[in-house]
Amino acid sequence: MDPVLPASTEANLAAAAALLMQGRLVGLPTETVYGLAADARNPDAVRAIFALKQRPADHPLIVHIGAVDELQEWATEVPPAALALARAFWPGPLTLVLPARPDVPRVVTGGLDTVALRMPAHPVALALLRRLGRGVAAPSANRHLRVSPTTAAHVREEFGDALPLVLDGGPCTVGIESTIVDLSHDRPRILRPGAISAAQIADCLQREVRLQPAAGTRAPGLMKRHYSPRAQVECVATHALPERVAHHLMAGRRVAQLSATAPAQPHPALVWLAAGETLDARMQRLYGLLREADMLGVDVVVAELPEGDGPADALRDRLLRAAGQGSVPTD
Ligand code: TXA
Ligand code: MG
Repeated sequence: MDPVLPASTEANLAAAAALLMQGRLVGLPTETVYGLAADARNPDAVRAIFALKQRPADHPLIVHIGAVDELQEWATEVPPAALALARAFWPGPLTLVLPARPDVPRVVTGGLDTVALRMPAHPVALALLRRLGRGVAAPSANRHLRVSPTTAAHVREEFGDALPLVLDGGPCTVGIESTIVDLSHDRPRILRPGAISAAQIADCLQREVRLQPAAGTRAPGLMKRHYSPRAQVECVATHALPERVAHHLMAGRRVAQLSATAPAQPHPALVWLAAGETLDARMQRLYGLLREADMLGVDVVVAELPEGDGPADALRDRLLRAAGQGSVPTD
């Protein structure tokens, strides 16, 4: 059942659906981050995504669908593992990589013979997808190598009037991009950690699942430097925060400390970006806080690396990429 949405949202949904059918782009809220959406069956529309984002053409996009049945329109085979994960986690922040049907436009897959598919949990995204009844290609709605947007205002900041419509679905509840699981090989692999953990996926599949970015896949989520604000980002363990902050302050830099608890020593050139107390809060706030650091014009963000696995893996991954110290090998 589609959720009941306010009348204003209904009118915007109709406008968004019409724009997409005309081959135009729309800013789309999802529970993870905002997407830059186009009709995934329209190669010209998909090319417009690459042009607007200034994204290299060989970086594949995720196709968003509104029903599990639609998997068959994109994948040559839907293995039991894919159905199990879809049943367990969709709609939700999980993307499945499957062998692509020959008729899937290769502009969507960046030339690969696999396709990434996800059913987002945001009510506005789901309502739009179900109204269209077709797949929507949507990378995060940021310019290439910039911080992903988690509010409609962020999308406007990125693209301004170049985008005819941004559907405002409020702040994203998850806040970082979906977990990507590659099911196109014998062994399932996690290509990008996210809010759904490796342990949850392994539990569901009843087998071991490794975090293993694909060698040789040109994918921005797999590049070292990604999700970067303009300020320099330095990732440190909790115990090292005071010393690293003091070091940058001594050097005359304006510093933001991104951490769960406030800095012990106030300083006129130091601001605290309250990372959040729970891992969920930390994911939800991360990108907004990196944008805030840029708005404040700080020189360096000293960011606390959370400990543990599950969502902490995903947070460390994004923080290390923001710092240009990608936690995974690049191609
Ligand atoms: O949460 C999300 O996944 C968000 C929202 C908008 O749904 N989308 C998103 O898209 O993060 P994007 O384009 O920023 O990241 C897509 C990533 C690529 O970086 C790549 O790692 C992976 O998906 N990908 C897509 N197709 C793939 C394929 N066929 N094989 C391997 N990886 C693929
Ligand atoms: Mg992205």
